[in-house]
Amino acid sequence: MTEKEIEKKYFTLTNDETGESYKLPVIEGTLGPSVIDVRKLYAQSGYFTFDPSFTSTGSCKSRLTFIDGEKGILLHRGYTIEELTEKSSFLEVCHLLLYGDLPNQNELDEFTKNIKYHTMVNEQINYFFRGFRRDAHPMAIMCGVVGALSAFYHDSLDIYDKRQREISAHRLLAKIPTLAAMTYKYNIGQPFMYPRNDLNYAENFLYMCFGVPAEEYKPNPVLAKAMDRIFILHADHEQNASTSTVRLAGSSYANPFACIAAGIASLWGPSHGGANQAVLEMLSEIGSKDKIPEFLERAKDKNDPFRLMGFGHRVYKNYDPRAGVLRESCHEVLEELGVKNEPRLELAMELERIALEDPYFVERKLFPNVDFYSGIILNAMGFPTNMFTVLFAVARTVGWISQWKEMVEEPTLRIGRPRQLYTGPTKRPYVDINERK
Ligand code: ACO
Repeated sequence: MTEKEIEKKYFTLTNDETGESYKLPVIEGTLGPSVIDVRKLYAQSGYFTFDPSFTSTGSCKSRLTFIDGEKGILLHRGYTIEELTEKSSFLEVCHLLLYGDLPNQNELDEFTKNIKYHTMVNEQINYFFRGFRRDAHPMAIMCGVVGALSAFYHDSLDIYDKRQREISAHRLLAKIPTLAAMTYKYNIGQPFMYPRNDLNYAENFLYMCFGVPAEEYKPNPVLAKAMDRIFILHADHEQNASTSTVRLAGSSYANPFACIAAGIASLWGPSHGGANQAVLEMLSEIGSKDKIPEFLERAKDKNDPFRLMGFGHRVYKNYDPRAGVLRESCHEVLEELGVKNEPRLELAMELERIALEDPYFVERKLFPNVDFYSGIILNAMGFPTNMFTVLFAVARTVGWISQWKEMVEEPTLRIGRPRQLYTGPTKRPYVDINERK
């Protein structure tokens, strides 16, 4: 359906001062709220709209992901996240996001072969790593090395060429686990492990992180399954901060490696992908169940910067469906690893129980988000907290690159250029340095 065909309704905006009114088209999607098309508003009225944190702004059209935050629903190309995590593999979900449909067996075999073909990184990248301090935060290294891919793969940088765009997408999906694992190995001073293409995506990632050249590595199927599920759960989440960053960077026709590096930078923040690290730090700080009320009071106190990490979401005003799946996975992983009564899991579940009965959290519709349980699983699997956001970036790369591809293939693509409400000084005469106070 073209945009024109679905323009049926109008929204009329009246300027109370002049009495002039403007007829703005309303555009309907297939699900979710309709939007008021304000693209011609400035030309017609001389006014901009003002929405600094984008709470009421649709920045693009997209066919990838739908979220109903009130009901706690997340769909990728129409499939529920619960069904995808139960029945699909991460690579199937990657195919779904990139190409629009779940692959049949032949398509999956072909796609898997294409991804495996690109798992190694240019050998020069090893030297690039050595320029970093060993104690650098893994996300700092990721921002650098992913951006640097554009210096190594010149043959897939032409964004106007469909085939080159596809190769870049495959390269990013294939190489991001390799780079993430190298980041971890560099941090702990162990040798880099070359990828093994006889393993599946999640197994290979765990092998590159936890294998060593001195010993044979046998992937644990329960942990590999949990890793794969974590990747699916984080694969895409419509126009969040990092995805919007990728789209805005890409709207200037920047190359995809540079755009994904921009997304990684945005994901790093504790209000976004950095929250799972912050959750574990918070659980350690709380320490024991008897301290929960004290920390809940701090979370509610507007004069205290402490917030309940892993709680609340800009879009979900209900239980984040991904948190439910992760809570189940958490139990499976801990059982497999023989961890009984993990104190942080028990603390997290008690914290969730008490918070969900507290009027402050109930009234504000603050529920656990995807980050609330993911840190506990990842830590149990052997990942240190500073790697959590990197794992999120590995998973989200498919969402970023699919959103980038969708945008670049849009015939009406124009550079993103928001406007502003200027509140600085009006024009004033220049003051010579000798006369300044
Ligand atoms: N703890 C305590 N109070 C909270 C929390 C929290 N975690 N989250 C929101 N609130 C309160 C706010 O103080 C505000 O209260 P008020 O109405 O009395 O002023 C109200 O709930 C609404 O919150 P906003 O900050 O306006 O919500 P916003 O949509 O801007 O922020 C965010 C969403 C950033 C996720 C926020 O809930 C938060 O900081 N949560 C903790 C960090 C976190 O878990 N981030 C991960 C998000 S998921 C992801 O990126 C994958």
